[in-house]
Amino acid sequence: MTTMPSHGLRCLNSYPWLQNLRRPPPSYSRSSLSSLSSSSPLEDSEETQSDAATYPNTNSNTNNNKKKTDSYFPKRGQTLELVCESLAFKGKGLCKVADTGFVLMCDRALPGERFLGRVTRKKDNYAEVTKLKTLSPHWDFVEAPCEYALHCGGCKTQNLLYEAQVRAKEQQVRELVVRVGKFSDKDLESFDIMKPIVPCDIQFHYRNKMEFSFGSKTWVPGGLLKDKQSDASDYALGLHAPGFFDKVLNVNKCFLQSEPANKVLKAIQDCWRDPKLGLSPYDVRSHVGFLKHLMLRTGRDVNTGLPELMVNFVTSSHKPELLKPLVEKITAIPEVVSIVNNVNTSVGNTSVGEDEYTLYEKSTITEVLRGLTFEISANSFFQTNTHQAEVLYGIIGDYADLKGDGSEIVLDLFCGTGTIGLTLARRVKHVYGYEVVPQAISDACRNAKMNNIHNATFIQGDLNKIDVDFGKDFPKPDIIISDPNRPGMHMKLIKYLLKLQAPRIIYVSCNPATCARDLDYLCHGVVEKNIEGCYKLKSLQPVDMFPHTPHIECVCLLELQ
Ligand SMILES: C[S@@+](CC[C@H](N)C(=O)[O-])C[C@H]1O[C@@H](n2cnc3c(N)ncnc32)[C@H](O)[C@@H]1O
Repeated sequence: MTTMPSHGLRCLNSYPWLQNLRRPPPSYSRSSLSSLSSSSPLEDSEETQSDAATYPNTNSNTNNNKKKTDSYFPKRGQTLELVCESLAFKGKGLCKVADTGFVLMCDRALPGERFLGRVTRKKDNYAEVTKLKTLSPHWDFVEAPCEYALHCGGCKTQNLLYEAQVRAKEQQVRELVVRVGKFSDKDLESFDIMKPIVPCDIQFHYRNKMEFSFGSKTWVPGGLLKDKQSDASDYALGLHAPGFFDKVLNVNKCFLQSEPANKVLKAIQDCWRDPKLGLSPYDVRSHVGFLKHLMLRTGRDVNTGLPELMVNFVTSSHKPELLKPLVEKITAIPEVVSIVNNVNTSVGNTSVGEDEYTLYEKSTITEVLRGLTFEISANSFFQTNTHQAEVLYGIIGDYADLKGDGSEIVLDLFCGTGTIGLTLARRVKHVYGYEVVPQAISDACRNAKMNNIHNATFIQGDLNKIDVDFGKDFPKPDIIISDPNRPGMHMKLIKYLLKLQAPRIIYVSCNPATCARDLDYLCHGVVEKNIEGCYKLKSLQPVDMFPHTPHIECVCLLELQ
């Protein structure tokens, strides 16, 4: 329970970071998609989205604000004693100024925690604070097993009891669906729409893909960089400091990735700074240096069920001789079955190379999902928590409620490497998949063939740019799966779906804010555009795919009214 005094709290919008969600997502562009993926190693699907937290203010409370005096707004640099009330979007702690109720968001503040915070950024209706000192700890405190947990940009809630993490995620989804989606709390309850979140049974070592970055100066927690001239001992290989593309926290072990992947990370950490090897980290400011990223992907040998690993070195130029000593060292690890080198000569921080070279054995690894085998290449999308993807796809299968007589048509939008559609294909007439990344489309076609599935067609196209011809390549679907990345669906696609009127839509989302917005459009229409909604939200199931991180997945079932 918060110890915040309740007197004098002003009635103001407690959700200012949700403002202007109605801004349509930007059109896809390859560079923008990949730039964010590299800045955020844990967020495969965190692309160009206009992050709800950074939207400009178009608050319904604007009139109210006009009346507020200057003293209402905390000043930049001001230090305040605060209590975190709950976790909000992106896992930030929500706090309010005691005597005014002004909303403040603080990274890594956890519910119940009393702390001193300094105002760092002001938005129109809320401000961001940085935690200076914890005065009394949060509720549900647990020891974090990882030594980097307090500073790493990956995990943010490792020292919050897992049950409390999922409770907070569920609450966040509910609030978004009510506030942004405009569904009433009563409806969510009485029609049993909102299901309790499905927790993840495996809370550590669940990620099958991690991307580490090389940096020329290791980031020291607290934000201080050593000022001496950097030398090899200052080089870092690890994860980005929260919010910084140019600062890398050196990491020797990550509790989210598999143990074999940690063996590889350690082997590389043990040797890459050796001056005899002549290896240098790429400096994102001076654009000098060779090693950019180390991507580790863990799959499974389909015959033995044992883990198999892909190691992907992303470098600024093609110099295989420089990588040779690292390759020799890691091929001694039995789980390593693939070593590739993506060469990315651009000044950007992306991990997708213009050219890819296979340095050891093969260029793909395999994984099994719902009884099908998938080949995964270095840059193709694959659900990053395989264990929980089984659960997620199970829910999708239940919601699809297929007749099983091979009569139905499934349209799989944002299909990636085709995994969802392919897991349904054997029970339907035909699956049509749409996806923007050409490599994912070729992987999807290969995956269909490998699993002897001949009733699936995958088409490359940008779903943010559909025109009147969209839909001419496939018959009217019975079931639509839509699994966009964080920006959600473009208005063009929403309009198309409302016109098409397929009997059922299964909306899979990794961003509950844009999910709630799109549900509102599909169910209630878009008043300002004179568009009527025609779907009914039947069920909404949050799923925790990423323990210790703020990410939340939701599966929603919509039926034509
Ligand atoms: C969250 S992933 C889902 C992938 C797949 N459904 C799965 O479960 O593996 C979203 C996919 O949408 C694709 N994508 C992003 N923007 C797109 C666009 N404008 N048009 C088509 N596909 C897009 C991404 O490349 C990515 O493969």
